Amino acid sequence: MIDTEPQTAGGKVLWHFTMSLDGFVAGPRHQMDWITGVSFRPGLVDEYVTTTGAVLGGRDGWDQATGDSRPYGGAWSGPIFVLTHHPEDAAPADGVTFLSCNPAEAVRIALAAAGGKNLEVFSPTIGRQLLELGLIDEIDLHIAPILLGQGIRLYDNPGSEPIRLHRVGDGGPASVLNVRYRPAVTGAAGES
Ligand SMILES: NC(=O)c1ccc[n+]([C@@H]2O[C@H](COP(=O)([O-])OP(=O)(O)OC[C@H]3O[C@@H](n4cnc5c(N)ncnc54)[C@H](OP(=O)(O)O)[C@@H]3O)[C@@H](O)[C@H]2O)c1
Repeated sequence: MIDTEPQTAGGKVLWHFTMSLDGFVAGPRHQMDWITGVSFRPGLVDEYVTTTGAVLGGRDGWDQATGDSRPYGGAWSGPIFVLTHHPEDAAPADGVTFLSCNPAEAVRIALAAAGGKNLEVFSPTIGRQLLELGLIDEIDLHIAPILLGQGIRLYDNPGSEPIRLHRVGDGGPASVLNVRYRPAVTGAAGES
């Protein structure tokens, strides 16, 4: 099966998400329950726990995170930076720094804190801004076998010009990725 190589640490800026087949990284109102039951390749979470030095997110994602939840179910620890225009009303949390600056400055600060490991950007809106600034090294996606139909898109930029990408790994840089799915039949007559 064609799959990506394990992620490596190298001071890279990763725009990293689990994404639905139709391009959403969160459901409506930031719902994330759809991710339950998705299976990742063995060792994948450890790859990112080991190679991630810092995380940069947006205020909406942070405000929606429940309680003391942390990336990778708490398996990862490290500095988290949250970008906001109004840091003054953010609830303080251990290991979390609220930044109010431009996205390029946020990346500079977070990469310095990452200590040579990667910076993970967990925000569609910030990732889009960084992409326009040429500050995203890799878009790193795990495509889940689900169609959401609505929610928060990885890349929401109406009116923009197409952005061409180079595929990393097997195949040529402009090659398509072939995937094939069948509807999962549930209910009395079918199997899940
Ligand atoms: N599928 C996955 O793997 C995965 C992983 C992580 C997160 N998520 C989800 O991703 C979603 C993120 O939501 P989102 O992208 O709509 O929101 P977001 O990026 O988390 O937050 C947007 C907010 O970030 C702040 N912001 C963005 N750019 C800024 C700038 N240049 N300067 C200052 N502040 C800036 C603003 O906050 P202010 O309004 O405070 O100024 C803005 O309203 C969440 O639902 C989260 O659960 C999914």
